[in-house]
Amino acid sequence: MIERTLRAYVQQVEALHTAVRAFLLQLTNPSAASTLLEAVAEVAEEVPGLEAVEEGRASELADQVRRERAAKLAEDARALSQAAQALPPGTPVRLSGLERVLRGLGAEEQSLGFHARLAEEVAERFGAPTASGQSPEGGGTSEDRLPYSMDNFAYGSTPYASWLKVLTAAGTALTEALSPPGRQYVVYGSSCGWLVLYGALTFGWTSRGVEILRCLHECAERVAADVEAAEGGPIGASFACGDLLEDDASAAGLVLLADQCWDAGLQRAAVAKLARELPAGALVVSYSGAQLEALRLEGVEGRGERGEEGEGGEEGEGGEDGEGEGRKVGKGAGAGGRVFEELVAVRVPVSWADNQTFRVFRRV
Ligand SMILES: C[S@@+](CC[C@H](N)C(=O)[O-])C[C@H]1O[C@@H](n2cnc3c(N)ncnc32)[C@H](O)[C@@H]1O
Repeated sequence: MIERTLRAYVQQVEALHTAVRAFLLQLTNPSAASTLLEAVAEVAEEVPGLEAVEEGRASELADQVRRERAAKLAEDARALSQAAQALPPGTPVRLSGLERVLRGLGAEEQSLGFHARLAEEVAERFGAPTASGQSPEGGGTSEDRLPYSMDNFAYGSTPYASWLKVLTAAGTALTEALSPPGRQYVVYGSSCGWLVLYGALTFGWTSRGVEILRCLHECAERVAADVEAAEGGPIGASFACGDLLEDDASAAGLVLLADQCWDAGLQRAAVAKLARELPAGALVVSYSGAQLEALRLEGVEGRGERGEEGEGGEEGEGGEDGEGEGRKVGKGAGAGGRVFEELVAVRVPVSWADNQTFRVFRRV
């Protein structure tokens, strides 16, 4: 959303710049002046409140922004509470904790400072090498680390109701995946903690997140501490700051890959890692799913006995290959050496799209 707004703004500024140049170069040409006025009018229409700023009424713009932000938070809180209240009786949901997460992270997400810190850390660590010759992490200075592009760190968030719809679509497979003692819910690319905190505060799962960016990790820890203080004790959510490729996934019953904008190399490496480490029956949720679908047993290095089990495994159930919400796509899963079988695909709204497909897979 922020990116789209910035892009639109930059386009307007470029158009204005072109018009100013034309005006200056052709002062005697009356059409240059009217083109310039048109460009100014367009910018004024596109950027809300520009007129207020121009006329020295900046507080009007600030009020407008505050009102819009408050309205969005109120709408998000209404949707969250409606979804949480529709959960089956007996679900250990902590609505007050979820509302606190929404208020805390919602306010962070809406603030310019949050996005400025994020952009600064990404540029510093993964941008082009600096003039002082310092190689940022994106430059691939360490041989055992993947070099990451700046696109690998685009910000986005998933509303509570969307997350819940995706997970509940997995049905009993979800309960089975998380029921063995010690099983964890793990979010790779946990950003500022949204999806981890949803899991801990809705189902009481032992939930943890791994996020490589320090500013996002610290934000997650801050909000989790605030929720724990208000709830009067631990909520079962923890956060680690680091590269997900260095995490141990062997206790995970459910892994959510926040992979919608990850580099292809990271997507491949994450899926290969999960194939090696996850117990059979564990679920993986992906915004893309292409790598999970493509991975065959021969692509799994260092697989153990469990790996061999997947070879020529059972046909998946379901079998309809249709489009649409909750479409069953299990057909052929497990066959041909597939390591992950697809259980279901669900389309729900997220911050960057009205209809994002999430795919749920099971380690065979
Ligand atoms: C788009 S965000 C996730 C947002 C999430 N989908 C949501 O809706 O709340 C993807 C996250 O993955 C993180 N990330 C990228 N590469 C990573 C890596 N190698 N290890 C851990 N986190 C990583 C990024 O910093 C970013 O915060």
